[in-house]
Amino acid sequence: MASITLNNLVKKYGDGFPAVNNVSLDIADGEFIILVGPSGCGKSTLLRMIVGLEDITSGDLLINGERVNDKAPRDRNLAMVFQNYALYPHLTVFENIAFPLRLQKGKYSEDQIRKLVTDAASTLELTEHLDRKPGNLSGGQRQRVAMGRAIVRQADAFLFDEPLSNLDAKLRGQMRSEISQMQRRLGITSVYVTHDQTEAMTLGDRVAVLKKGELQQVASPRELYEQPVNLFVAGFIGSPSMNFLPATPAGENTLSTAVGDIRIPADKAAKAAGKKVVLVGIRPEFFEDASLVDESKRAHGSTFTAPITHTEWLGNEQYGYIHFDPTPEVRELLNSLARDMDADELRPQVVVTLDAASRIRGGRDAELWLDTRKIHIFDPETGENLTRDPDAGARLTEEANSQRAEEIAMAREEQEQQVATAQD
Ligand SMILES: Nc1ncnc2c1ncn2[C@@H]1O[C@H](COP(=O)(O)OP(=O)(O)O)[C@@H](O)[C@H]1O
Ligand SMILES: [Mg+2]
Repeated sequence: MASITLNNLVKKYGDGFPAVNNVSLDIADGEFIILVGPSGCGKSTLLRMIVGLEDITSGDLLINGERVNDKAPRDRNLAMVFQNYALYPHLTVFENIAFPLRLQKGKYSEDQIRKLVTDAASTLELTEHLDRKPGNLSGGQRQRVAMGRAIVRQADAFLFDEPLSNLDAKLRGQMRSEISQMQRRLGITSVYVTHDQTEAMTLGDRVAVLKKGELQQVASPRELYEQPVNLFVAGFIGSPSMNFLPATPAGENTLSTAVGDIRIPADKAAKAAGKKVVLVGIRPEFFEDASLVDESKRAHGSTFTAPITHTEWLGNEQYGYIHFDPTPEVRELLNSLARDMDADELRPQVVVTLDAASRIRGGRDAELWLDTRKIHIFDPETGENLTRDPDAGARLTEEANSQRAEEIAMAREEQEQQVATAQD
């Protein structure tokens, strides 16, 4: 078990370009932290620096409070769980798990090896599969064998580098929940790298968002979703993405946008005051078909009319699309945002989520309701979220942390009981 601390870590490769730039992060003992960001943002580099496969250009890396910058990978006692699981096809599951123990020749007796492997297999629910070969196992079982290897080594932490990215969507979903349950059960500190925001949101206690080697925000999934610090985090987290609508303050508590005038709460309007253009961030689900919103709720938002180009019906809900005509500046802004996020393009459109019962159809004007209490307003130049409520955000993360602490305590207790029963 270990805590891992990153203090101002920098990695410059040969050409001097900082692949990781001044990253500081405290990873608590037992925590499951996700590093997420678009391809090339430095996730693998950071992970490799932690495990010791990459030199640290500057900054300090501490494991359980001890500086380990100059320690060899094997002396850091961290286990990398690789994408392809690196299992030996000709060895049984038992021998695959035992492998790291046999590597340390003479250190473990045959009895000790048997005990460590069978204990790990029981935790991982692999007992019945110990005599099988990896080729005959499901993806999830293979993943568990790979984790079994890390467990018998009694590694202080697990490091995962995009372990699911080669799998199809369905299997990925299954494995995601397997890894998450396993990690919770074991309570072993884990750092998990992915470029997939869904994976990040569903797996992590806390998620660290990286952009071009720099940490943008570290928070619980809910805080990232509801209180993003900037345009990048707001746009990267969530699917379908947050809509960004250019707007100009127009009179009291009103923003003029390409889809019509929107009345917003006074506290938010104050943040936009004096700016020529702002970007309004609106998640698709902040909208609703106005005819389905009752009067009392309507008063808390703004109702407006906009042309819906088309709709997509998904059974449980539907999406409506509104296209708008951006000015050249706005188009450039959307393009540069898309480049940052490694997205193909950010279309000048607004996606709205509508109730499955909505009769709104494409090709007509529709009356929409917007929950303006939830919108965010961004500075288009700095990307800063002008309406972020840090206290509300901190509360969300505290809630997640205390839930998590309880889970870890329960997991530890369960493990101790298992050990005690085994010794009886
Ligand atoms: N061995 C290397 N030499 C030079 N540049 C590298 C090397 N490895 C990675 N990079 C560069 O560092 C940046 C971050 O890469 P990486 O950590 O692999 O990103 P990610 O895992 O987020 O996709 C990229 O610009 C990449 O081209
Ligand atoms: Mg990578």
